Amino acid sequence: MASLHSTHGTTHKPESITLSELRSEFSHHDPTIARLNNGSFGCCPSSIISAQQRYQLLFLRQPDYFYYNTLKPSILKSRRIIQELINADHVDEVSIVDNVTTAAAIVLQHYTWSFFSSSFQPGDAAIILHHSYSAVKKAVQAYISRAGGHVIEVPIPFPVKSDDEIILEFQNALQMAKLNGRKIRLALIDHITSMPSVIIPVKELVKMCREEGVDRIFVDGAQAIGHVEIDVKDIGADFYTSNLHKWLFCPPSAAFLYCKMSDELSNMHHLVISHEYGNGLAMESGWVGTRDYSAQLVLPEVMEFVRRFEGGIEGIMSRNHEKVMEMADMLSEAWGTELGAPSEMCSSMVMVGMPACLGIKSGEDALKLRTHLRECFGVEVHMYYRAPIEREVDPVTGYARISHQVYNTVEDYHRFRDAVNKLVKDGLTCSLLPN
Ligand SMILES: Cc1ncc(COP(=O)(O)O)c(C=O)c1O
Repeated sequence: MASLHSTHGTTHKPESITLSELRSEFSHHDPTIARLNNGSFGCCPSSIISAQQRYQLLFLRQPDYFYYNTLKPSILKSRRIIQELINADHVDEVSIVDNVTTAAAIVLQHYTWSFFSSSFQPGDAAIILHHSYSAVKKAVQAYISRAGGHVIEVPIPFPVKSDDEIILEFQNALQMAKLNGRKIRLALIDHITSMPSVIIPVKELVKMCREEGVDRIFVDGAQAIGHVEIDVKDIGADFYTSNLHKWLFCPPSAAFLYCKMSDELSNMHHLVISHEYGNGLAMESGWVGTRDYSAQLVLPEVMEFVRRFEGGIEGIMSRNHEKVMEMADMLSEAWGTELGAPSEMCSSMVMVGMPACLGIKSGEDALKLRTHLRECFGVEVHMYYRAPIEREVDPVTGYARISHQVYNTVEDYHRFRDAVNKLVKDGLTCSLLPN
């Protein structure tokens, strides 16, 4: 990820954030909750919420002036910041939309039209990961399967030991498609899968798709910006999207959609057609009717915020990773379990094995345990159920997805450790928890 340069508003170095300022930035968080699930909804510091409110008031103060004079240049400023952060060649390649769900629908709907215009044949395929995000998988079903396309799901081993295991599965799926005479029109690859959470060797998979003649490649990096490095030129996909509200401190909801410059780009449209129809996806996305655009406008303030941390956003990312690994090791040691992936495949989220004696036997059990931890211990953590493989001895079937963001303290993880230790000591199993 590119570091912060002069396009990000001011060039002065802001004062480093103090511990009490950091606490105050997140003082709106519920103090009774140990928040270990940044991956679902992200977080937004109070200085950014204030900036958002300033934009909202600017609009309400003189809406006509705001719409005709302030909105477009302000969105352009945010797009330029994103362009630099992701190393895109041109600002027209960057659109800002509500969220990754919307970005995915824009790309997938575009391909639905290719089936209707007969440039694609029924049975042409899209390839996705089995662990792709469930809402995005549903969009694939709605836009690709319904249009007559075939969907190939690549199984991803979990727990996983190395990138090679994923690369091999993907290679096998491409070869199988070839043997079956399938034309693969679109590959949809996650950069960081949500559940179970693992960094996918996205650059290698994109390269493999290119070598095998896959038409277009779309990377779902919903969890990625502010979390891992993104260099869209280096990754080499045609489309890349990421939420700005998960790990980059924007308020909900904002995401970018990068579309590599091509003739095709002029045929891509926002799902909501409005005044800018036909003026390019970036322009179309900047005016989708009357609505609140403030979440898209705070990028300059977000850049100011991250510059208050040592090493800026890169410093935040590397410290989050180091800290979450340390906490994951502490938890797995306390519970006598393993991590779901090696450190180099983890970002600021890590899958930690739960004690087998808790009897996590289904997705429903995982949800019940998650609810119990929230309601009885004040711990918010995402929980994953993994079905045991045939003949597996003493399988770990439950994994907690813990995260680390700048607001976390060691006490958050100690609370989680102690809660689970108490459940084990009390002999609780998921079958005893209410539905
Ligand atoms: C990999 C992945 N894709 C897509 C999404 C959807 O993001 P949103 O709900 O903000 O559209 C998420 C959200 O967690 C995700 O993790």
